[in-house]
Amino acid sequence: MTKFSDLNLSPTTLKSIKRMGFEEATPIQAGTIPVSLEGKDVIGQAQTGTGKTTAFGIPMIEKIDVKNPNIQGLIIAPTRELAIQVSEELYKVGSDKRVRVLSVYGGQDIQRQIRAMKKNPHIIVGTPGRLLDHINRRTLKLQNVQTLVLDEADEMLNMGFIDDIESILKTVPTTRQTLLFSATMPDPIRKIAENFMTEPEVIRVKSKEMTVPHIEQYFTKVHEKEKFEVLARLLDVQSPELAIVFGRTKRRVDELSRALSIRGYLAEGIHGDLSQARRMTVLKKFKEGRIDVLVATDVAARGLDISGVTHVYNFDIPQDPESYVHRIGRTGRAGKQGMAITFVTPREMGYLKVVEQTTKKKMQGLKPPTLNEALEGQQRLALDKLMETVKENNLKDYNALAEEFLADHDPVQAVSAVLRLLTKEPDTTPVEITAERALPSRRDNKGGGKRGGYNKGGQSRSGKGGRGGGGRNNGRSQQRSSNRHKTYNS
Ligand SMILES: Nc1ncnc2c1ncn2[C@@H]1O[C@H](COP(=O)(O)OP(=O)(O)O)[C@@H](O)[C@H]1O
Ligand SMILES: [Mg+2]
Repeated sequence: MTKFSDLNLSPTTLKSIKRMGFEEATPIQAGTIPVSLEGKDVIGQAQTGTGKTTAFGIPMIEKIDVKNPNIQGLIIAPTRELAIQVSEELYKVGSDKRVRVLSVYGGQDIQRQIRAMKKNPHIIVGTPGRLLDHINRRTLKLQNVQTLVLDEADEMLNMGFIDDIESILKTVPTTRQTLLFSATMPDPIRKIAENFMTEPEVIRVKSKEMTVPHIEQYFTKVHEKEKFEVLARLLDVQSPELAIVFGRTKRRVDELSRALSIRGYLAEGIHGDLSQARRMTVLKKFKEGRIDVLVATDVAARGLDISGVTHVYNFDIPQDPESYVHRIGRTGRAGKQGMAITFVTPREMGYLKVVEQTTKKKMQGLKPPTLNEALEGQQRLALDKLMETVKENNLKDYNALAEEFLADHDPVQAVSAVLRLLTKEPDTTPVEITAERALPSRRDNKGGGKRGGYNKGGQSRSGKGGRGGGGRNNGRSQQRSSNRHKTYNS
């Protein structure tokens, strides 16, 4: 356990961290902060949700000279949402020191960003495309940058940003310190590290221990046609506080969120085709608990900082194990218990094995609940509400009427009627969900029985907004590095 107060941080930064409510540093933070404060280049590898933002944020803030009006820190992040999240977190870490942080991303008025740039921000957080745009317009002066961070590098690779990143890297002074953060380390990312970093120290937090302990993992074997009913029943039985349902495609997300709404769940969807404003609105509602089911594609949800998610439902099993780890990492955060349930069609059982090999944990089989069990779940919820109200004991105004009613009614009948009124009985309104093709059967692959390479050919990742390329590497290859190497177990 490392306390922030043991990390040789300035009192102002410690004060800000205290206000953020952090008690101790996460393993990636404990590993990264001291090395980074020494001025060394760092490669930080840890799963989503492990606090990588603060891991680079603290040393960056510590290094900023607030009297110097130049841009001293640059962070490149894959999406607008992440750029905003990172800048908000950095703003908090630097609030007592009064560090100025500006985020720039596509979709926002560029003139407005240019005006904001004139207020001399110390740190810029931006998406690759928009950063390049500013560089080409000469509205972004990077010659004084001392610290550069590539955040969620694997995701930027997936989105086809690798060339943009290289172009940006070339415009930043080579004397800078470079930090690279990623959940996985596919080869192209390692190459960037080789070409653009100086003797980086690798800080790696083993993912196995990071992702799994607080998350109960289940799978349920269902036919494609039955998936929606099973999801609805699970929601009724488990009554999650906040749930994310992952679908494979944008169409899937649209159809699922519509169907769930028709059935009376507070659900909305996010994917890459929705406008920035729309996605932000939905996320805000979810964070505030005004909707309790968020339906999302991988790309739309990845890296987002959403806390309090109690259940993750993989309506479609993800096509690669890394996505699985990312998805279930949305729940069980900050040491809280979470539950992940993955729907697998009979043909896709082979994919389940691959996922289990990656997480080194077997998923438990879960029988889909029956309609009766779904009803019971909702009835129990109604009973909870009733008991809560009884406990609050704020019923004086109702007592007379209750006594009058009970004078000529059976009490069991009376309570049953109240329960019935309070129960959201499972709704079976018909809904339309277009069938998705099952993932190609793993037995069709020429890879034979070999574990390493199942076929991902022909599957397009959703929500990418047309930025192709990137060549997804399955990243399961061993970390190979001549650099000094630290591995942390959490
Ligand atoms: N030391 C800490 N203690 C408690 N919560 C933390 C700590 N560091 C970060 N967090 C919180 O954990 C969540 C995930 O952090 P984030 O930096 O987005 O993770 P990552 O980039 O690794 O996916 C955020 O809500 C963040 O505020
Ligand atoms: Mg992150």
